[in-house]
Amino acid sequence: MAAFWAATLLIGEFMIDKELMPKHVAVIMDGNGRWATLNKVNRISGHNAGMLAMKEIIKRADILGIKYLTVYAFSTENWKRSAEEVGGIFSLLVKYVASELNELNENNVRVKILGDYSKIPKAAVNSIDKALETTKNNDGLQFNIALNYGSRLEIIRAVKKIADLVKNDKIEIEDIDEDMMSKYLYTGEENGSIPDPDLIIRTSGEERLSNFLLWQCAYSELAFTDSLWPDFTPDEFESIIEEYTKRHRRFGGR
Ligand code: IPE
Ligand code: IPE
Ligand code: MG
Repeated sequence: MAAFWAATLLIGEFMIDKELMPKHVAVIMDGNGRWATLNKVNRISGHNAGMLAMKEIIKRADILGIKYLTVYAFSTENWKRSAEEVGGIFSLLVKYVASELNELNENNVRVKILGDYSKIPKAAVNSIDKALETTKNNDGLQFNIALNYGSRLEIIRAVKKIADLVKNDKIEIEDIDEDMMSKYLYTGEENGSIPDPDLIIRTSGEERLSNFLLWQCAYSELAFTDSLWPDFTPDEFESIIEEYTKRHRRFGGR
């Protein structure tokens, strides 16, 4: 009996076998705008509510012992939105980092950014640089924020890096393999060689990937929920993880 309890994690009403816990969970945080409309507030207030939901999910992921949590915060396509909305999202990001960095750091969380964040407003770049620097030696949960991230551009960027190695006679074409591609993606060496996501969750009822982790998702389990992101709770997160632990992943084998 004692061994049984030791092998499972009981939080709230969920019982999850620690051995089956996903190492890497990625989340497409969608539905802030619809939440705002439903609650008769502006879209920025919806994004603010989304940030609050995100804070709670980070905490629960940490308690569960998940090693990598990746959130899709801003896509390369989200620049199509109004300047007001885009600016509002980045202002919220600065506000979030300012208010949460100490707590993240105290909890041994290491922050990483996936995407070309040099293109976002200067204030946001500065607060991100501070978060990266402050948390770089932490070895608890790795919290990856996909920011100005698009998977197709990520793949092109990796291909260019590899092409450059061939051009400069550093490698042979025959050396190019899956491991090498993985190494040069944002999830690769530069951000601590993040394993592919075991589970990708998308909220708001949409069932698509929207240019998120297209290479890395080859064998990810997918989970969709109708909850709008600001309404997504740690208990729902945990129930999805519990359901994930009951799936049979075969990776092409029998
Ligand atoms: C997700 O919420 C946040 C971002 C894409 C930045 P949305 O803003 O896409 O919300 P909906 O899809 O309009 O409801
Ligand atoms: C995906 O949501 C991007 C983020 C959550 C940051 P979108 O709302 O941008 O995706 P589409 O446009 O519905 O595919
Ligand atoms: Mg959306």
